[in-house]
Amino acid sequence: MQTLTVELGERSYPIYIGQQLLDHPDLLAKHIHGRQVMVVSNETVAPLYLERLLALLGGFDVTTVILPDGEQYKNLDTLNMIYTALLEKRLNRGCTLVALGGGVVGDITGFAAASYQRGVDFLQVPTTLLAQVDSSVGGKTGVNHALGKNMIGAFHQPGCVLIDTDTLDTLEDRQLAAGLAEVIKYGLIYDAGFFDWLEQNMAALKARDKQALAYAIERSCAIKAEIVAADERESGMRALLNLGHTFGHAIETGTGYGNWLHGEAVAAGMVMAADLSARHGWLDEAAVERTAALVSRAGLPTAPPPEMSAQQFLDLMAVDKKAVDTGLRLVLLKSIGTAVVTADYRPELLSATLDETLSAA
Ligand SMILES: NC(=O)c1ccc[n+]([C@@H]2O[C@H](COP(=O)([O-])OP(=O)(O)OC[C@H]3O[C@@H](n4cnc5c(N)ncnc54)[C@H](O)[C@@H]3O)[C@@H](O)[C@H]2O)c1
Ligand SMILES: [Zn+2]
Repeated sequence: MQTLTVELGERSYPIYIGQQLLDHPDLLAKHIHGRQVMVVSNETVAPLYLERLLALLGGFDVTTVILPDGEQYKNLDTLNMIYTALLEKRLNRGCTLVALGGGVVGDITGFAAASYQRGVDFLQVPTTLLAQVDSSVGGKTGVNHALGKNMIGAFHQPGCVLIDTDTLDTLEDRQLAAGLAEVIKYGLIYDAGFFDWLEQNMAALKARDKQALAYAIERSCAIKAEIVAADERESGMRALLNLGHTFGHAIETGTGYGNWLHGEAVAAGMVMAADLSARHGWLDEAAVERTAALVSRAGLPTAPPPEMSAQQFLDLMAVDKKAVDTGLRLVLLKSIGTAVVTADYRPELLSATLDETLSAA
């Protein structure tokens, strides 16, 4: 097992990464301070892993809530199901919520924990590659609104993140690919050497080679932990983690939540960001091609959905929370491994990127 730490002073917490951690008796239990525990999962993940998780929580007073599965349920109605269960079962302020599932379950459960009785403890047990490399770490929680992705939420750090890499055995290939989008993102924004490693090991990752996956998860979590420790509330460098996301969120909202997976939308968004960076002369063409090639080898889309229009993108991107008073900010690339957050791009070049990537799709 590997243990990484997200260094946040007294709110620091460990990320445990390894095989068969769902059979490890005290990793989770030592992060639970009261008696009452509520495990939140969904109808797909619960039949696979809930029983093993409950076996780890033998000494506690445990209740469970099973949510419907899907990004389209990441909303206030589903959140309310959790509040209702918490109140019906009379969970108090000393309770701990445990999220067992992908990023959707993790984000909703985290927000329930951030807001229930002004904040209770929560733990993350992520079971998708995307959640293991990204969403379970860093404390961003929330739900979608019909008018915008992740528009309602809070920062609320978990007490620990327990990553049992064996849970990926049951994950569909399409979902594994979606997680690889965020893995590629770390190489692009932060670590050119990791990007090279991904180029060399993409076939192994797609073939679910355990060692390659373990390394990709560890390196991704280490980068995320470093960035979150440096800028927990996204006043600066944490925004780099949004590479491809302003385009991606527009795709997710524009096509209807759940049609394009988050990772798929981010993948196309990263290629669009690379294209826009090159139009400014900040990134060379070879780097754009390497980005698109790696995204494509991961089994991910390199262009936006052709049914969307450039104007629809611009409207949806303006809603995205990276738009501040001074205008829309985008994460763009200076090289593979170096990104910047900037409002200083040329609008006509953004239009050119939208027009040309939409017509290429
Ligand atoms: N909080 C953050 O910092 C952050 C970062 C990135 C993404 N996100 C959010 O995460 C969400 C996407 O997460 P996701 O990609 O994990 O999607 P998801 O939670 O919808 O999971 C994908 C699918 O896999 C199923 N599943 C989960 N674990 C499984 C397993 N082990 N075996 C078989 N099936 C399994 C799920 O039931 C679901 O059908 C988006 O809402 C996105 O906005 C949040
Ligand atoms: Zn993401």
